[in-house]
Amino acid sequence: MSKRTVSVWTDNRFWMRSAGWVTGFSAVLLIWLTFDTLGQIQMGNDNDLNNGVAKRVPGPTVINYNIQYKFSEKRGHEVPLIGEKEKFFGRDDYSEEEAGELLHIGKLASQVKNCMNCHTLLGNGAYYAPDLTKAWLDPKWDDVAFLGAATKEEGIAKFLMDPSGNAMHQRAMPNLGITEKEAKGLVAFLKHMSSIDTNGFPRNFGKKDTTLREKRGNQ
Ligand code: HEC
Repeated sequence: MSKRTVSVWTDNRFWMRSAGWVTGFSAVLLIWLTFDTLGQIQMGNDNDLNNGVAKRVPGPTVINYNIQYKFSEKRGHEVPLIGEKEKFFGRDDYSEEEAGELLHIGKLASQVKNCMNCHTLLGNGAYYAPDLTKAWLDPKWDDVAFLGAATKEEGIAKFLMDPSGNAMHQRAMPNLGITEKEAKGLVAFLKHMSSIDTNGFPRNFGKKDTTLREKRGNQ
């Protein structure tokens, strides 16, 4: 009998082995990506902030610092930059526990009052109202005199306690019965959220026309 040469492409074993290798490789890749992501989104701590170690999700004590939103030529979008110490409700020395407690109150309040029903936070929620991911960095808070407040945090807290009385758009936010304690926690929550490196999401958030103009001028 003459020996027939069988093409590898029609050989069942070739396809079975390939399927095995592809599945195995994908599984390893996915497991590696899962652990890598977990590492990337791990919240930093006060030591990182004191030593200038950049974390995607900075620790709660980031509320003791000034946060800016700057265009990165390298990455092609805005990135949060943590700067010098800055007073937050009169203090810039919140301990990890105190800052964590404030964020906790804010997070609970955001869930109880269901901010996500109208707003988007870190990609989750609705688009009825402005995205809150970078709300702390909204240039509209640069001057909070219109809210009768001296500082940005007091201005936002005042707005949250009486949004319909301080409406800035035709579509006003309803008063949700937010207490002073909740408002302070919510502002800390918003400030912390704005410090998270979200790869520039949401795009072009709250950019002033002047920022765009300056950028064009620089090109
Ligand atoms: C029923 C819908 C609704 C809910 C629920 C809601 N908001 Fe709003 N919010 C709005 C609307 C509408 C605006 C725009 C109002 C304006 O500009 O006058 C707004 C504006 C804001 C702004 C100003 C944002 C900016 O940069 O322009 C902040 C901050 C804010 N809301 C925070 C919150 C927080 C925190 C919660 C949860 C505790 C919340 N909102 C729940 C509808 C809502």
